[in-house]
Amino acid sequence: MNPFPPFHPAHVFPPDFVWGVATSAFQIEGGATLDGKGPSIWDNFCRVPGAIADGSNGDTACDHVHRWAHDLDIVKDLGVDAYRFSVSWPRVQPDGMGEWNGKGLDFYERLVDGMVARGIQPYLTLNHWDLPAALQARGGWAARDTVHRFVDYARQIGRRLGDRVATITTHNEPWVIATLGHEQGCFAPGIQSRATAMQVSHHLMLSHGLALQALRAQGCKSRLGIVLNLSPIGPATDSPEDVAQARLDDGRSVRWYMDPLFKGDYPADVIEHLGPDAPRIEPGDLAHIATPMDFLGLNYYTRSVVSASGGWDVKASGNRITEMGWEVYPEGLTELLLRMHRDWTLPPLYVKENGAAFKDELVEGRVHDVERTDYIARHIAAVGDALAQGVPMAGYMVWSLLDNFEWASGYEKRFGIVHVDYATQRRTLKDSALWYRDFLQLQKAARRAPAAAHDEPAGS
Ligand code: FCB
Repeated sequence: MNPFPPFHPAHVFPPDFVWGVATSAFQIEGGATLDGKGPSIWDNFCRVPGAIADGSNGDTACDHVHRWAHDLDIVKDLGVDAYRFSVSWPRVQPDGMGEWNGKGLDFYERLVDGMVARGIQPYLTLNHWDLPAALQARGGWAARDTVHRFVDYARQIGRRLGDRVATITTHNEPWVIATLGHEQGCFAPGIQSRATAMQVSHHLMLSHGLALQALRAQGCKSRLGIVLNLSPIGPATDSPEDVAQARLDDGRSVRWYMDPLFKGDYPADVIEHLGPDAPRIEPGDLAHIATPMDFLGLNYYTRSVVSASGGWDVKASGNRITEMGWEVYPEGLTELLLRMHRDWTLPPLYVKENGAAFKDELVEGRVHDVERTDYIARHIAAVGDALAQGVPMAGYMVWSLLDNFEWASGYEKRFGIVHVDYATQRRTLKDSALWYRDFLQLQKAARRAPAAAHDEPAGS
């Protein structure tokens, strides 16, 4: 039986649709103290007993700091248009303020030049969670001063790399930083305070808007935006309690970020619900947050079903469940994209992360990851469905290029389409990578076909 959905011609994507693969600095680079890099909050969090499932850390990870050229060769071999990566702030500015680290900046110069030389568009993220630990010691994202430190950092990266990178994302998933890092405390910096989390979310959003303004003011040519993790959130039953819970959760995780970006205000029902935990907002902040963006990035993995009494048994869905315990629900991606298109006026939209962790087995140089391949194929089809219904989709990126450090899950969860043997650092393309490569070749062939027809001399 063919495990993959048949690709109907309706899923031929437009010629300028951008295909990519994604990673982030802390998850792959290693080189934790190499060439003057300072510690990040994740370096410190990994040292907290019990914080990381397998007790691991990012000291070596995929050793990408030494193997980047080989990794870029793999990216090129896949035939993607773009590679999404992040800059480690403490690698380029060890304390998050003051001195710049020339060797750290040079590393990203080489990396970006390496992409350009291979014909790969660089998609850069400034903050994929690894805040310099020195700034955390001064209050981290809860301190308004960090907003200004981030804007300085954005300016410096814009000056050094803005002439070559296609897009700059300010923050990856501010909800995760605020809620998992500062309310639930299961991610760095491990704080548990709702009031702090809400203040953090506001500072992240404010720094996003101010960074966009600063980059544009210095003539940065890269397209600018942010990446949010959003899910469709529905009630487990029709009971008024469950429906109210779903509305509140949607308010806190979706509208809390979308409304200020696109409507210039936080949702009133959430502010009311938060009461004294609502953030302090200074005059003018909301206008800065609503600074127009050139694109919006979305990371999608699964849907969320909620009940007022707490849990919902994901197994009840009857759908496949990934190693993360996440339901495979590609319809949710189409549903979410259509809702976003309906409720807000969107700039070009990219899926900047989508993928799955499954148990992989490397046997005689092959990883037959049928479930991951199926996951990716079905989600690409879901994007195609949204595009066909008018959502301004501009690109899709697989999470992740490589197996890597999956935050609090350590190295136990593998999201890569390329397998990494951590003992030898050997990379092996999984079947999902081979499928993606073939799929992209078909897309490129389809791109060429209409162009060839167009080039026919008149009258022939
Ligand atoms: C996202 C993160 C990314 C990766 C995936 C699985 O929330 O942005 O770094 O960990 O989840």
